[in-house]
Amino acid sequence: MAWYDLFASFYDLMLDGVYRRHRAQAATALQLVPGMTVVDVGCGTGASFDALVAAVGPTGRVIGIDASAGMLRKAARRAQRNGWDNIELVEIKVDDPEATKQTLRTLGEVDRVLCFLSLSVIEGWAAVLTEWFRRMTPRGRLVIADVHNAKPGLYGRYVQVVSQATLTRKSWEPLEAMASDFELAWQPSSWMLGGQLFIAAGSR
Ligand SMILES: C[S@@+](CC[C@H](N)C(=O)[O-])C[C@H]1O[C@@H](n2cnc3c(N)ncnc32)[C@H](O)[C@@H]1O
Repeated sequence: MAWYDLFASFYDLMLDGVYRRHRAQAATALQLVPGMTVVDVGCGTGASFDALVAAVGPTGRVIGIDASAGMLRKAARRAQRNGWDNIELVEIKVDDPEATKQTLRTLGEVDRVLCFLSLSVIEGWAAVLTEWFRRMTPRGRLVIADVHNAKPGLYGRYVQVVSQATLTRKSWEPLEAMASDFELAWQPSSWMLGGQLFIAAGSR
C-alpha cells in the first residue's frame, strides 16, 4: 500500500471534482434508507462519504475499509472536518480472508456495499465481491462504480500505472451472476478516466 500512502497526499486534488456526479449516482443506485449500514470497500480518502452520510442520516452508519493508512488518515480528517460521527474506519486488506472474517464479526449487519474505483485495484477482487455480497442482510444491495477499458492504449496504460488498476477487469460479471436483479449503466466518460465508467448494481 506504499503507493496509495503517497498518492493520498494529492489524490483529492487530482480527482475530487472528476467523479462527484458519479458518486451521487452510485449512492442513488444503492437505494439507501435512513438508519442503514453501508460499507465502502476500498474507501480511500472517503470521497464518497458525503453522498453516503446524506442518505443514511445520523442514525445510519458508514464504514470505510481500506488497506492504506495514508488514505484512511485523509478519510478520518474528512469525517472530522464535516462533523460526521457515524463514520467508522477499518484498516485491513480486504482480500485477506482472515482479516475480513474478523472485521465482519465485529461490524454487525451490513445492508449495503459500495465498491467505487476499488475492484479494479484490489488484487483478489472477485473473492472480495462475492464475500461482501453474501454477507449482506437479505435484500442487501451492492454497487460497483469503476472504469473499464478492454484494450488500454498508451494513456489507459498510464492511468493503470498511476492508479495501480487493471482496467480490463469485467468486475460486474460476478455481480450479474449472483444478483436477483442486476443493472449495468455505462456513463458518459471523459478521456481523462482512461476508459469508460460504469455503475453496476445488484441485490441479494
Ligand atoms: C482508486 S482508489 C479508490 C478510492 C475511493 N473508493 C474513491 O472512490 O476515491 C483504490 C483504493 O483501494 C484501496 N485498496 C487497494 N487494495 C486494497 C486491498 N487489498 N484492501 C483494501 N483496500 C485496498 C487503495 O488503498 C485505495 O484507497
